[in-house]
Amino acid sequence: MSLPMSPDEHLKQVLASFDESVNPRLVEILRSAVKHLHEFTREVKLTHKEWFAGIEYLTATGQKCDEVRQEYILLSDTLGVSMLLEMINYAASEKATEPTVFGPFHVDGSPHRKNGESIVDQTNDTGEPMVITGAVKDTNGKPIAGAELDVWQVQSNAMYDVQEGADWRNMRGIFTTDAQGKFEIKTVRPVDYTVPDDGPVGNMLRAAGRDKWRPAHVHTVVSAKGYIPVITHLFDSESPYLKNDVVFGVRESLIADMKNGKCHYDFVLDPL
Ligand code: BEZ
Ligand code: FE
Repeated sequence: MSLPMSPDEHLKQVLASFDESVNPRLVEILRSAVKHLHEFTREVKLTHKEWFAGIEYLTATGQKCDEVRQEYILLSDTLGVSMLLEMINYAASEKATEPTVFGPFHVDGSPHRKNGESIVDQTNDTGEPMVITGAVKDTNGKPIAGAELDVWQVQSNAMYDVQEGADWRNMRGIFTTDAQGKFEIKTVRPVDYTVPDDGPVGNMLRAAGRDKWRPAHVHTVVSAKGYIPVITHLFDSESPYLKNDVVFGVRESLIADMKNGKCHYDFVLDPL
């Protein structure tokens, strides 16, 4: 009579079932995922009831997704995986501007705007006017002319334009640096806002006693020919949520003074 199989032997058998000659990268990912899933299941001694609660949770997460709502990405964001992805895939040196999460509210094809133009297209916005000035430079401090800043931010009602389901757009624009590498963006001071919490992610945050807030920020993707683009934010230094951003995106180097209607920040890009 043979001895009963141990969990280690069982894991070995599952790992061996993947044929790496078919697709080596896929098998590498699947084997690692299986290994960690088995370790996790053993570590917490998962019960049948808890396993099924997890199945129901993932099912509900999928059911909450549609063309505009991606609850799985929100789950990835709030578990810190999206930020980790940015950290491990950003090839620039430590001298370059730090990246942070992209988030779900970017829209392709924002209007190109002249330096000094406003991104506030809806005149009923009640925010405090603010001008963001600065330059885009290389890691030697040389200004980069013709760099693009694709900028977007939440409206003063704490909603992104796309969350309102309308066909108009607000708080978006693409700016180009001048011959001195400088840019100037008219906007309003950003506000703190919460991630959508009417789905499984909101349930997880409440059940775990976590905050649902993002500290006030302005998003930008800064790019220039011959340089590594950076997906980043500028965070308002006075936000009370800098220490507990629900998506773990805050970096000290991205915190800026937004008082008195002014914000100044220089972005630094690494060559490709
Ligand atoms: C955002 O900053 O727009 C965002 C990022 C992650 C999740 C939700 C919103
Ligand atoms: Fe945002």
